[in-house]
Amino acid sequence: MIAAGMQSQDGHMSEPLPAASPILVTGSKGFVGSVVVRELLQRGFTNIRCFARTPAGNDKLAELGRKFPAARLDVVHGNLLLPDDCRRAADGAVLVYHLAAGTGKSFPGCVLDSAVATRNLLDALAGSQTLKRFVNVGSFSVYSNATLRRGAVLDESCPVERAYTARFDAYAYGKTKQDDVVAEYGAKHGVPYTILRPGVVFGPGRGGSILGRCGIDTFGFFMHVTGRFPIPLTYVDNCAQAIVLAGLAEGIDREVFNIVDDDLPSSSRLLRLTKRNLGRFFSVRVPYPACLAFSCAWEKYAAWSGNQLPPLFNRRMCAAYHKGNRYSNEKLKRLLGWSPAVPMDEALRRYFEYRRTAAAS
Ligand SMILES: NC(=O)c1ccc[n+]([C@@H]2O[C@H](COP(=O)([O-])OP(=O)(O)OC[C@H]3O[C@@H](n4cnc5c(N)ncnc54)[C@H](OP(=O)(O)O)[C@@H]3O)[C@@H](O)[C@H]2O)c1
Repeated sequence: MIAAGMQSQDGHMSEPLPAASPILVTGSKGFVGSVVVRELLQRGFTNIRCFARTPAGNDKLAELGRKFPAARLDVVHGNLLLPDDCRRAADGAVLVYHLAAGTGKSFPGCVLDSAVATRNLLDALAGSQTLKRFVNVGSFSVYSNATLRRGAVLDESCPVERAYTARFDAYAYGKTKQDDVVAEYGAKHGVPYTILRPGVVFGPGRGGSILGRCGIDTFGFFMHVTGRFPIPLTYVDNCAQAIVLAGLAEGIDREVFNIVDDDLPSSSRLLRLTKRNLGRFFSVRVPYPACLAFSCAWEKYAAWSGNQLPPLFNRRMCAAYHKGNRYSNEKLKRLLGWSPAVPMDEALRRYFEYRRTAAAS
């Protein structure tokens, strides 16, 4: 079976990738990675190497294996921090979807599992005769909107945050360094890559809250930073489709794509829907300037006290998450031919249904 080629920037169709081409997916048992594997199988690819750290959660992949009996789904266990494991993972791969990352709050953890792990994997791939594309899954969190007005469009041209100490965001730091490593291997070793930066990914399988950009949930109640601006959500199936397409389209080497869906809900609507579907909780409305002033006071106290309190709240973080911007998926639609297959209302319905069922069981 041959998977369809994609239309390129210059309007040409790419050479279709043979269905049996070896494809590596890292983070394959994660929330987004497992849907990327499913999407590849649905597109007819039959030779997928699923890289995972531990056997925990193998049943997810085993179920996919049963649904697609004609496909070969190899689970390779290892750690991207170990160069030998990276060589095993990378061997002969034609396409790599790199989703493994450090997603916690520790700086060393995020640097190791995002930047160092990526470097190890790229070391194993540099000079590969088979590799056609390294699809690096980055994040919206790398952007700095410090120079953007409230309500301005944040797209791929937005600068990346480089004031790391002031921002004090371990995850964003790790993801920025990860993108830097990828760009470096592209420039120095000719690794063909594309970077995808999803907003907030949600859907069945997502644990935890999706309200992080609506406000702050730290002091025993929810500080809702008011605003009519949209929250950059992307439903997991739509996001996985964009990621898969980025591996197949011609003419997009070194391009960066943001992933957000259409019809994004405002912060107020998302909070209202969450309360209605998952149960009410106490929230206080706080205007953005007040949130910024609180972040500024915290930041200054942290500096004055010699970081007795770390600057967890600071102006750059406040701006990045709560200033309020608009978002564009125009590039994704134009160059990859992507459009969100699951509309926002249906996506939210499926997500809340999943959360209610998970809470009841
Ligand atoms: N979820 C979102 O809202 C969102 C938004 C923007 C970008 N992203 C990006 O999308 C990607 C996938 O996110 P996700 O939500 O699916 O995260 P996830 O569920 O936490 O999955 C991350 C995966 O990375 C693997 N991993 C971490 N360190 C590793 C290492 N040293 N060696 C091998 N594997 C390692 C983990 O393996 P184990 O299962 O063994 O721990 C896990 O399966 C990440 O790159 C993330 O930064 C996610």
